[in-house]
Amino acid sequence: MAVLRPRLHFTARRFWLNDPNGLVFAGGRYHLFFQHNPRAGNHGYMSWGHASSVDLLRWEEHEVALPWREGQDVFSGSAVVDWRNTSGLGGAGEGGPPVVAMFTGNGFYHQAQYLAVSRDGGETWAFGPPEPVLDEGKQDFRDPKVFWYAPGGSWVSVVVHPDERQVGVYTSPDLRVWSQVSVFGPAGGVAGIWEVPDLFALEVAGQERWVLKVDVFEGGPQGGTGAQYWVGDFDGRVFTPSQGARWADAGKDFYAAITFSDLPQSGRRVWLGWLNNWVYANRLPTTPWQGVLTLPRELSLVQDGPEWALTQVPVPELEALREEPLALPDGQQVEVGEGVPLDLTLPMTSWILQLLSARGEEARLWLEDGALHLTRAAPVGMDGFAGTFTAALPDGPGEVRVLLDTCTLEVFAAGGRLAFTQLLLPDEPITALRLRDADGRGWTMRATQAP
Ligand code: FRU
Repeated sequence: MAVLRPRLHFTARRFWLNDPNGLVFAGGRYHLFFQHNPRAGNHGYMSWGHASSVDLLRWEEHEVALPWREGQDVFSGSAVVDWRNTSGLGGAGEGGPPVVAMFTGNGFYHQAQYLAVSRDGGETWAFGPPEPVLDEGKQDFRDPKVFWYAPGGSWVSVVVHPDERQVGVYTSPDLRVWSQVSVFGPAGGVAGIWEVPDLFALEVAGQERWVLKVDVFEGGPQGGTGAQYWVGDFDGRVFTPSQGARWADAGKDFYAAITFSDLPQSGRRVWLGWLNNWVYANRLPTTPWQGVLTLPRELSLVQDGPEWALTQVPVPELEALREEPLALPDGQQVEVGEGVPLDLTLPMTSWILQLLSARGEEARLWLEDGALHLTRAAPVGMDGFAGTFTAALPDGPGEVRVLLDTCTLEVFAAGGRLAFTQLLLPDEPITALRLRDADGRGWTMRATQAP
């Protein structure tokens, strides 16, 4: 089987990747760190890989920022610009404010939160103080997501207690001394352990509402891992949901998303996740890369009856990568070229889209009875991968946007109220499409990653 490397989605040059980490805009660039094994194509020797970009799409991979050290993995976490050098970790004025990362050190039956710092705007990194800054002596306690809470004049970090299905909320004046101020959960999906929380504000109709996202290890929307969220209020100490849990993405392969910190445009919220499911992540038959991130997505909230719904759309920067217009006339097979990323727009009516390789149909996406469906096959050894996956379409107007990039499929419908993300493992590369019962249009996209 020849699984092509995605051309528009980030993959590590070589070897294993899982969660995005430390997403931050600093020194004039977007920085992307990622859970990385720099030595092999499986989860191990966990380190923070590093890439940066000026447009969120063309990533340049750098040296590993925070390497595994004997006795300690560098697990997931986040990064912020410490504008006022509250941490005292800044240099002597040169290089701008320190960029501070808070990550989980995974030791022998022990997880605690540590700091790392960059004094050159995110380019190079060093571990901070050797002692943890937040340690409850627990075996599982991880994935700190830090942000500045302006009204309270303090840092806030959400850290997950996986087994308890709880998110601890902590505050700090200086990123070094942390006090617990509240605990959220258990709530919503609790079938599996919880991982990778994020808490952020979105403005809607002149009002600020807060979103708490936390991933679940089992019982996701299509089985296995998935991402749930609540909308509610946050007063700097306590998150109070105003509605029940919802899935952030209805597909099987959206996990461990976190939002960027310090984006230059105020009010803008962008996240990206790991395009995978822990059910089979360790068995993907790809090489020399293993693991891919989603496209960056812009977030907002819309009214949904008495509740609020999160919407996600690919960042508008993506449109600059459109190359050739593409028409998908009803019933006609259209050659698209091996490995060429595609950005398609289809109506919210019923249709069938076949994804074809030289050997025939590799996958099928269709809309029927108010739902989106995807059938995908699996290579040998990939239990839990094959099947038909269904997601209800929200009512209302809109179109269906389909981003296809070799083995990744991201679908957004109804103004982003439905996001549906799935890996594909075609036996042969997809080279043609056939749409039935509708006309579609789209673009071929410029590649941002070398094959
Ligand atoms: C989520 C996760 C995190 C952890 C990291 C380890 O996918 O399990 O909870 O910090 O991956 O790589």
